[in-house]
Formats: sequence, C-alpha cells, structure tokens
Amino acid sequence: MNPPTPRPRSSQPKRTVSIIGTGSYVPEKVLTNDDLARLVETNDEWIVSRTGIRERRIAADDEATSDLATKAALAAMENAGITADDIDLILVATVTPDMAFPSTACFVQHKIGAKGAACFDVSAACSGFLYAVEIAQQFITSHTYDTVLVIGAEKLSSIVDWTDRNTCVLFGDGAGAAILQHRGGGHGVISTFMGSDGGLADILQIPGGGSRTPTTKDNADQRLNCIKMNGKETYKHAVTSMLAAATRALADADIKPADLACVIPHQANLRIIEAIASRMDLPMERFVINLDRYGNTSAAAVAIALDEANRTGRMKVGDYVLLVVFGGGLTWASSVIQW
Ligand SMILES: CC(C)(COP(=O)(O)OP(=O)(O)OC[C@H]1O[C@@H](n2cnc3c(N)ncnc32)[C@H](O)[C@@H]1OP(=O)(O)O)[C@@H](O)C(=O)NCCC(=O)NCCS
Repeated sequence: MNPPTPRPRSSQPKRTVSIIGTGSYVPEKVLTNDDLARLVETNDEWIVSRTGIRERRIAADDEATSDLATKAALAAMENAGITADDIDLILVATVTPDMAFPSTACFVQHKIGAKGAACFDVSAACSGFLYAVEIAQQFITSHTYDTVLVIGAEKLSSIVDWTDRNTCVLFGDGAGAAILQHRGGGHGVISTFMGSDGGLADILQIPGGGSRTPTTKDNADQRLNCIKMNGKETYKHAVTSMLAAATRALADADIKPADLACVIPHQANLRIIEAIASRMDLPMERFVINLDRYGNTSAAAVAIALDEANRTGRMKVGDYVLLVVFGGGLTWASSVIQW
C-alpha cells in the first residue's frame, strides 16, 4: 500500500520572513576585569589579550532570565510597532531557564500579556538564537503563524564557577530579542544553516543538575552544576565550524563575503572573530563587536549585537548581513539576511 500523501499545511506560496524590530537589555551591574582579579588569580592584561573582554554585566539576585528576556522583548515590540496581541509564538533560546519547567517563554508570555501566543524554549547553547530564528522562519513561511517573538536570554552568572579562572572571566548576563514577520517584498531571511556534533558534547557542558547526574550536595560541592570547558578545543572548533557555517549560508544565498555590509558573529572571543575575518578576507570593521562590554552572553550575544547594529544604523535597507554562531553541543548556525 502506498503511504498517504502528506497534506500541505497551506497551498499558498512560501513567504519571505523579515526582522521587523529588535530590542535588548543588559543588567545595570558592571563587573570589570579588575573586579575579577579580586576573585581569582587573573588580571586585566591577560583577559584582554586572550579574549578582548574588558567587562561584563551581572544580573541582580532577584533578576531571572525571564526578567531580562521580558525587557528585551518589550523593546523589540516597541521597535517593531506591534502589541502583545499580535504575537503568535514566543521562542526563548537559553541555557539558564528560570526553572526546568515551565519554559522561560511561558514566563515571558505572562509578563508581556501575549495571551494568544504558543510558547517554548530552544536549547542549542550559544547557537540558540539563530536556531530559534530558523524555527520561527519555518512557522511563518508555512503560514502557520504570522508574528513570532524570538529571544536569546541568559543569566550565565548563575551557572559560572566563580572559583575557576578558566571560565569565570568569559561570561556575562543579558538578553536580545527580534520580531519576525512576513513583510511584502523580497527583503528578509535569504538563507539559514544549522549543524550539530553531539560527539563533542564533553568539551563544553554543565555535567550536573540533569537526569544523568541529579543535584546532590556532593556534586554541588564539586560544582558539577557549573560550566566546564576545554578552552583550547572549544576555540579550535569555534573557528572551523563558524567558518563552515558562514561559507554555507553565503553559498546558499549566492552572496560573496565582499557583498556583506556587516557580519554579526557570536561574541565569545575577539581572537576567534579575528581568525574568521582573516579567513573570509574581510576587514574587522565589517564585524559587529560588543564582547569588550558584555563578554560572552551565550544565546543572547548575537541578539544583543543585532539590536545594537540595528539601532546604530549599521544596516541600511537592502544591505546583506551575515549572522554566524557557535556553541555547546556542539552546535553552529548561520543566516544571511537582506535588511
Ligand atoms: C579560554 C581561552 C581564552 C584560553 O586562552 P588560551 O590562549 O587557550 O589559554 P590557555 O588555555 O593556553 O592557558 C594559558 C595559561 O593561562 C592560564 N589561565 C587561564 N585562565 C586564566 C585567567 N583568567 N587569567 C590568567 N591566567 C589564566 C592557564 O591556566 C594556563 O596556564 P598554564 O600554562 O600555567 O597552565 C581560549 O582558549 C578560548 O577563548 N577558548 C574558547 C572559549 C569559548 O569561546 N567558549 C564559549 C564558546 S560558546
């Protein structure tokens, strides 16, 4: 017997998807490299020369990821000129949810009053925002939803081991958001690419606190519920996978690196971005960088950088923009957008 023919969700043609508004929020408290030098054996010179990071933001004790996400979401809604009633779906990319469940997206929904929206979180570590953009795009092109709120939000200070100088100098807190919607005309997301390699899970992870190693006093004392990272391996794979992802999204969009008005990369380490710029034969000025001010904010990083680029006029209508990210999983993703 022949398998049933799948029924298309819509017979209407695929739609182009545009980012119609962006927003971001970073907590007030600034933690400088000198502040960190009082916590662990490190110094400003080491951190700046190895990473490019000068300071990062730290959320208040009573600020959870959904609080950061909500502020970024409200800014994006205002920027896009939409209300909570317009939102059909809320996606929050995060590795620091308020709690294991409900999803952080549900908390955001309640706080912004988007009663009609479906909600779920996306777990792809630092690549999460672009994974969520791709999911949003699929829902919009298929005519399932019209308006999607995509957020990358993290309170990484809650999972950093503040006694480990190898990791604690790298991370910060923040949130970025984008509103995706079908907009007439050809401009919008042109190509997207996502990849993963679960065989490399052990080079960047939080080993404790899940079903594999539930939290006990003993493993909390060993800080198994904090980020563990093999820095050198992570660095190597970050460069190769972001380059491969960028090359793929550019090829799919039929765009050359020189055609790009700007590149918005994951904000992990300035040296990683410099290596990518050099191999793409692009000047560093073409790259949007804020890691000196915020450090690595995981899923929020590229979303905050996108908002800053939008609000400072880095992209003009019609410009080609490349977003490219990398994170634990391992995961990587890229997207070419015509602004
Ligand atoms: C973490 C990272 C900055 C380290 O830089 P590096 O040049 O590889 O440094 P190394 O690991 O070789 O460490 C060199 C020395 O500095 C020391 N060191 C590590 N952290 C330090 C710190 N904060 N301050 C001072 N010294 C430090 C190490 O202990 C090591 O000392 P040793 O030689 O006596 O053992 C770099 O590997 C990196 O950025 N990796 C990618 C991380 C990342 O992007 N993670 C998130 C991905 S989403």
